[in-house]
Formats: sequence, C-alpha cells, structure tokens
Amino acid sequence: MFKIGVLVSGGGSNLQSIIDKSQSRELQCKVEVVIGDRECYGVERAKEAGIDGYTLDRKVLKKELCREIDKIVSERGIDLIVLAGFLSIIDEEFVNKWKGRIINIHPSLLPKFGGPGMYGIRVHEAVLKAGEQESGCTVHYVDTGVDSGEIIAQKRVKVLEGDTPEILQKRVLVEEHKLLPESIAKIISERR
Ligand code: GRF
Repeated sequence: MFKIGVLVSGGGSNLQSIIDKSQSRELQCKVEVVIGDRECYGVERAKEAGIDGYTLDRKVLKKELCREIDKIVSERGIDLIVLAGFLSIIDEEFVNKWKGRIINIHPSLLPKFGGPGMYGIRVHEAVLKAGEQESGCTVHYVDTGVDSGEIIAQKRVKVLEGDTPEILQKRVLVEEHKLLPESIAKIISERR
C-alpha cells in the first residue's frame, strides 16, 4: 500500500479529505503518520482516525525540526510527504533528499499570490485587492523555493461580487478538498 505522511500546522481539513477518501478506498493509499509542527487540530484529527500523530516544536532550529521529521518518515517507509497547511519552511537538505516525493497545497492559482508571507487569509486579501476575476488552488511539488515547485494540478473558482477574503477562502477550500486527493491519486497512478 502507498504510504503517505501528512504535515500540518492548523485545522487539518485537507488532511481530513485525504483520510476520508483513503478510508472509503476512493484513494488507494494509507495515511501512515501525521506530524504537526505545533499543537493543532490536525494532529487530533489523525488520532481520532486511529492514525499515529506527532506534535513537534516549530521553535527549535529549522534544521533540527527537519531532522526529526525525516527520522519519522524514513523509519515508516513513507512514499509521499504531503504538506497540508504546514507553515514551517522546510530546509534545503530535506527538500533535496525528498525531491519528487514531497507536495504542497496552496490556496491560489500559482505562480500568482505565492511566495514568502503568502499564506492563510492574506492570500485571499491579496487576490481581492488585485481585482482578480478568478482564484483557485494549486498542488505542486516542493522545491527549495517557496511555492515555486512544478505544478501538478489546479482548480479554479470565480471571484464573485461582494466577496470578502473569508467568503473567498471558503469557496477555494471546497475545491482544495477535491484537488488534493485527486493530485495524490494522479501521483499514485504514475508510480505504478
Ligand atoms: C489551506 O488553505 C491550504 O491551501 C494552505 O493552508 C490551508 C490549510 O487548511 N496551505 P486546513 O488546515 O487543511 O484546513
């Protein structure tokens, strides 16, 4: 079975979409482990689903945090690392070791509205401020830059009259919950 390790920092609704689809066998993989870089509901969701969850400390040195993550995912024979709302920046050594086996989901149509500091509600605020007519979400491979790796798939949503950043965020999130499992399925089928 294709084994996934998911890294989270927040609510973990994207993690939940992977758990649900793997449990219903729509997605042919096993969420083997979930790692949080802080206490967060994402790790709780894992435990509720009977998946091993670890809470690490994001305040330790980046290098040390990555070494701890590497130890856990290496020992468990993880095939793919999924960053699902993971806010710590991964160090270069880790990215190089896991190149092609680590993906991220971002709530905009990259390369637009990505890069350092572009996360959470800020992304949607920037989209509205720029007067965009559409937004969306992107799943991409992680490289040594921020939100700059090869794009795997995207989904688009319309920006509507009267949208607030929060309303747009919700509309994009609905698509994220479809895009992430679909992207993982694509990777699994390519590896077969
Ligand atoms: C999502 O919008 C994702 O694109 C971004 O962080 C958010 C995480 O949401 N990287 P959740 O924790 O999966 O609910």
